[in-house]
Amino acid sequence: MRMLDIIHTKREGGQLSPEQLQFFVDGVVDGSIPEYQTSALLMAIFNNGMTDEEQTELTMLMMKSGTHLDLAKIPGIKVDKHSTGGVGDKVSLPLAAMVAAVGIPVPMISGRGLGHTGGTLDKLEAIPGYRVELSESEFINQVATEGLAIVGATGEVAPADKKIYALRDVTDTVDSIPLIASSIMSKKIASGTDALVIDVKTGAGAFMKRLEDSEALAKALVKIGQQAGLQCEAIISDMNQPLGRKIGNALEIEETIDCLKGHGPADLMEVVYTLGSHMVVFGRKASDLATARQLLEQTIADGSALAKFKAMVVAQGGDGRVIDDYKVMPQAKYQIDYPASKAGVITQMLADEIGMASMVLGGGRAKASDQLDYSVGIELNKKLGDSVQAGETILTIYANREDVSDAIKLLDQSIQIGEHAEVPPLVYEVIK
Ligand code: URA
Repeated sequence: MRMLDIIHTKREGGQLSPEQLQFFVDGVVDGSIPEYQTSALLMAIFNNGMTDEEQTELTMLMMKSGTHLDLAKIPGIKVDKHSTGGVGDKVSLPLAAMVAAVGIPVPMISGRGLGHTGGTLDKLEAIPGYRVELSESEFINQVATEGLAIVGATGEVAPADKKIYALRDVTDTVDSIPLIASSIMSKKIASGTDALVIDVKTGAGAFMKRLEDSEALAKALVKIGQQAGLQCEAIISDMNQPLGRKIGNALEIEETIDCLKGHGPADLMEVVYTLGSHMVVFGRKASDLATARQLLEQTIADGSALAKFKAMVVAQGGDGRVIDDYKVMPQAKYQIDYPASKAGVITQMLADEIGMASMVLGGGRAKASDQLDYSVGIELNKKLGDSVQAGETILTIYANREDVSDAIKLLDQSIQIGEHAEVPPLVYEVIK
């Protein structure tokens, strides 16, 4: 078989056979296919797409290129959640604790943030001592005993994806639906979960800015998951403005704990309950979404979700005092208010610019090797559709330097005040 023929087939809009895809993935992993040929095929896939069969086959081959976790030792139906990423999106943190408190094992393998989006692992590392790198056996034992663990990838998960992703990043082929879907699902299937609920974000701060692209991605993800034998559903939720009120690593842990104490912002809690209800039904603790939601609400009311979160933090080496004292996490030296330039209604609050503002303060990474400042970020006092008076605080910047003009420039681009706001729906649809 020749890589040139494989590239030609896809360049001409043809369908690749399982054998051709196998040859490609093997050659990527063992280095026998040069990067220029892999890049050419990626561009051909970007331009001509893939059929459902090709997409699923590529996913399974990338999944099999690395380790596959066997979670059979953990009793019960294991349910995980994945998000395509956003700003202020700390949903995984309260959600994992609440679903675990209902009695469903949650083996969550999460990622780090890049660019304007935050990463669950980075947020957890704001808690002194928290270890995101557990061995496979530590991870399995913790899910079996505590009911949940949130960790980085254990072992060599989908090495083919790692190599392909690095090339996509430098060949402008990241935003291809079959390539994104196979990349995400190869790692999720390798994690050994029985069921998966995916939060596909849409809007200014999301990977997919247009609803129809988010729908197409959600459908591809769900189809691959189901063909791989997982129970799998996706919701499409809004990422035009940030989710919740706090953006930044330690700030998002604070908001997580506030949620678990019953004081979470309404928009964030709505996304948590929507995703969580599907997870609870998948985990067979309720037969319908309304009952599932009641069970989740109960975990907040009786403190069991908060206790689960604390148990996970302590089991992973973190300082459990964080539950009652947020000051055990790094604190920013300066709090700088950003006032409204005039009276009116917030008509625009672009999530990507706010994520970038948090990033330039040190809360996110422009490149993978950047060090984070866990203490910095942004707290929103107003959201889309809220009224403001001239001079009233729209948000507060948490920084470790007095001059935050770079962040303010981004905030000026993000926020607009006018007369009438179009507030987008929080949850657009469920893809089954
Ligand atoms: N996340 C992934 O893991 N892969 C992609 O291609 C995009 C987002």
